[in-house]
Amino acid sequence: AYGDALLRCRDQQDWTVEEVTYLLSPPTVEDEEALRLSAEALRQETLGDVVDVRGAVEFGNICRKDCHYCGLRKSNIQLTRYRLDLEKTMQAIEDIYNMGIRTVILQSGEEQENETASIIKMIEAIKERFKLRITLSLGERSLADYKAFRQAGANNYLLRIETTDHELFSKVHPDDDLEERMQHLLWLREAGFLLGTGGLVGLPGQKVASLAQDILYWRQLGANMIGIGPFLPAAGTPLANQPAGDLAITLRVYAVTRLLCGRVFIPSTTALASLHPDGQRLGLQWGANSIMLTHTPEEVRSHYHLYKNKAKVDLDFACRSILEAKREIPAYLNWPTRK
Ligand code: 5AD
Ligand code: SF4
Repeated sequence: AYGDALLRCRDQQDWTVEEVTYLLSPPTVEDEEALRLSAEALRQETLGDVVDVRGAVEFGNICRKDCHYCGLRKSNIQLTRYRLDLEKTMQAIEDIYNMGIRTVILQSGEEQENETASIIKMIEAIKERFKLRITLSLGERSLADYKAFRQAGANNYLLRIETTDHELFSKVHPDDDLEERMQHLLWLREAGFLLGTGGLVGLPGQKVASLAQDILYWRQLGANMIGIGPFLPAAGTPLANQPAGDLAITLRVYAVTRLLCGRVFIPSTTALASLHPDGQRLGLQWGANSIMLTHTPEEVRSHYHLYKNKAKVDLDFACRSILEAKREIPAYLNWPTRK
């Protein structure tokens, strides 16, 4: 019966939450492996074996919000706050460019509205100096800001929905509203961005049915990129003593997302690498097709403390994950250790 459900994934248009919950709950270990193999087959057919590598710069950790799971939350007074100046940011971008990478992600906490001008300056400076695609991951901002960022030359915007479970969303997001977050994703599309979204797996109280609902939301949104990570406890947060998300369930979410969302970019995330030593390799073997390495300057790196024991995913780490997963390092990448 489970095998039949997997076969239907290719053609079935309308899915119920119950059906997707079933896909997320393989009854036997053989079914679990069948799920993985179906996702891998679809990934192989649609995107091939090359793992796309992108580079992120976490240029600031100042945040106005207080999300219960995140180490950057404004109430976390133990954290040293920083914001890189343009020169430092450009240096990090240049390093990424020299690695051969052609897409950079600019990531920060949710900054104040008066930072709009400095962000636009950053985008323009990068576009002027390097032939790079720019992905922004800056949290919620105004529609006018989104349009201005797009105008300045940014290409993609990454804004995770985190969870589509109303009750859970409100519980962990004291400053946010689920409908508003969904509206922001529509504004981003209206502004002309390719959309990235995604969510957390294993938040305290999160049900498998709510993960199924998340996948259906990503599918109907038609996102180009879907970032999925296990919840990991972070010091200085209300959820500091909660257990981390489960590896097996997270991998099932990867596979079912691949099956239902088709030819989308699914990164094997830093959170997955932080949860388990083989996490990133496993992500690549459960439907993922890209890696986002982090190239934040050494002196501030530890302050981008989203959660405990964050893995250091640099060029070397990313390339080793790719080789361990028996996949291809892209030809554009300059990895000195390459054989
Ligand atoms: N565990 C896992 N992922 C987290 N993020 C924030 N805090 C955590 C955590 N404790 C992720 C969120 C957010 C991004 C900034 O990092 O999904 O979108
Ligand atoms: Fe700020 Fe984003 Fe962390 Fe929430 S998840 S506290 S908005 S950095």
